[in-house]
Formats: sequence, C-alpha cells, structure tokens
Amino acid sequence: MSETLSGESIPQLSGYSEAELDQAFAAISSEVAASAAALATPESVEAFRLQWLGRKQGRLKAISDAWLKSAPVEAKKLIGQRFNVLKAEIEQQLENAGNASASSALEIDVIDISLPGTGAKPGAEHPLVKTLNELVAIFARMGYSVGVGPEVETDFYNFESLNFPPGHPARDTQDTLVVAAQEQKPLRERLLMRTHTSPVQIRTMEQQPPPVRIVIPGKVHRNDAADATHSPIFHQIEGLCVDTNITFSDLKGTLDHAMKELFGSSVKTRFFPSFFPFTEPSADVQISCPFCGGKGCRKCKHSGWIELLGCGMVDPAVFGFVQEKQPAYDPKKISGFAFGMGIDRIAMMKYGISDIGLLYSGDVRFLEQFA
Ligand code: DAH
Repeated sequence: MSETLSGESIPQLSGYSEAELDQAFAAISSEVAASAAALATPESVEAFRLQWLGRKQGRLKAISDAWLKSAPVEAKKLIGQRFNVLKAEIEQQLENAGNASASSALEIDVIDISLPGTGAKPGAEHPLVKTLNELVAIFARMGYSVGVGPEVETDFYNFESLNFPPGHPARDTQDTLVVAAQEQKPLRERLLMRTHTSPVQIRTMEQQPPPVRIVIPGKVHRNDAADATHSPIFHQIEGLCVDTNITFSDLKGTLDHAMKELFGSSVKTRFFPSFFPFTEPSADVQISCPFCGGKGCRKCKHSGWIELLGCGMVDPAVFGFVQEKQPAYDPKKISGFAFGMGIDRIAMMKYGISDIGLLYSGDVRFLEQFA
C-alpha cells in the first residue's frame, strides 16, 4: 500500500503554464473522486484520509514534494493556489464520507422504542434492616419517634448514668471493647464501643424534657467470640416512654401489642422478674412460640416459650443522672418504662436463619433469598 502512496507515482509536470497546471491537477482531482467513491465504513474513510493526507506518506505530501518544492519562484503561487483547492476537495470528500458513515451507523443502531427498557435492579432490603424497619414502624404507629446515638460512647453514658457504678459486677455481663490509651482521662470520659443502645435513653432525656416516647435502633459491640449465635457486632432496639402516671401495666400492654404485631395476634407474652441496674422493677419477656403455637418444637427448645427482651420501670437513680442537665425529670412527678431487644435474634427467628454470621457475610447468594 505504501508503494502506491510514494512520490514515484506522481507524474512529472509537463510545464508551468496555467493550462498545463490545470490539466495536471484535474488528473489528481479525478483520482481523489475515484478513491472517494466507495467510502462506506469508518475503516475505509480512515484509509482514504491516510492515503491523501497522511503526514509522511500521504499523496498530498508527495505532490507538494514533487511539484511545489522544485518549482521556479514564478510558478509557486499558481501551484500553491491549485494545491489548496485540491486539499479542500479531499477534505470535503472526507466530511461527506464521515457524515454518510455516521448516518448509516445510525440506521444500523436504530432504536426500537417498542422494546421493553432495561430497568435498574432495585436490590433488596437486608433481613436485618427489614426486621429493624418493621419494629420501628410498629412503635411509630403507637406514636413513638425514632432516634439514634453514637457507637463510640463514653463510660458515663454506657454505664455510670445507667446506674452501673464503677467496679459494679453488672458491668461484667457486657464484655466491653474499650478504645486504647484512655487511661489518663477521668473514668466517666473514657471511650468505649457501646455495649447496648441504652445510653441513648440518657442522651434523649438530656436533649428534651418529658413526655418522651422514642425507639432507638442501632449497632452495638461486645467482646464475644463469633459462633452461630454470637457476633461481636449485633443490633438492638431500645424503647423509652416517660410521662406522668406511666405504670407497669402500660409497659405490659405496649410490649404485648408490639409482639402481636410482629409475630401475629395469637402470640402471648409473659413477664419474669429480672435485674437490670437502670430499671426497677425489671423483667424478662417471653413470647409463646410462634412456630408451634406453644406446643413445643425445636425452635423453642420444646418449652413452648421464647425469651425475647428485657424491660422495666426506669430506675429513679437514672432520672437523677439526667437531672444534672434536665431538672424536669423529677422522679416524684414523672415515671417511665424502658425496654431493649436484640434485632438479629428476632430476624433469625422470623426468617429461619441458623447462623448469625450469615447476616454479616455480605454473600449475595444468601441475601437474594430475601428479595
Ligand atoms: N440494655 C440491655 C442489654 O443490652 C437490654 C435492656 C434491658 C434494655 C432492660 C432496656 C431495659 O431498656 O429496660 O442487655
């Protein structure tokens, strides 16, 4: 190919008169028109461009070398004018061919608007988030607001203000991950990963006077070795209701209703005495097994009941800590209840998931089943 582009194929000029030049350029011009006749594809257009305008081997360059450079000074202007006309012709051919191949490409890719679109895949809610949203919605329908709090917490909010005094054995029940190099700070300011969502009870009350009705879902952290039922990260939802004349029967009615909404109206609840430093009295709540209706099965370990959450009446000592910032929380005038439950366990029960690790694996094959 490069042979045909070389300077040798350019004929010698017979002379420098205008007629002789016109004739020589007309011959080249018809050559251009001939080679531009079949420019259908982008590849052939590019080959044409190279053939004529290629910087090193292009024919125009060869013509310039053969005719213009060696021409006597008087003829240079005449040749130059014709040379420019020729160049414009070539460029015009290229432009036409470019438009033509672009429009023929359009014809090929013509859009059939009757075809269905390629819709965006919306993804699916993670079973944990689904359960969390369901729980929040149940309490929202009872007039509760929703709050959040920090996962890196101070010792004061996570423990002290919830009536876990320094050194109290109740702290040992929550294997705590602490932030390093905090020893120089006073104990109540030292940072740790919150072990429960209960500190947000205090943060909420410090921010707003009673009445309060709020649920707080969120991630919590404990120094637990991972196995089928334990994960160092898991989720809780906290509830807090404070107003005048709030009683234990309000607590029972609220939680009984919430469990019926979550698991179906035939589910029953029962309350057992328990201990939490921040509630008095405290209770553990069991629900009748929603899988066997209380008859006993593998899921309820054949007892007919499943323990699901902790709760109680807010301890007056907790209001005492809040009163440092919000004096309206006077335990002589107001009362309240609180509750907390693990969202992961509820999600696992609802969806029949046997290993908590699956909730954190990010494995699409697992998650797709809940889409
Ligand atoms: N924070 C407790 C825990 O993680 C759960 C809990 C129990 C929360 C009783 C409460 C409550 O609000 O009243 O073990």
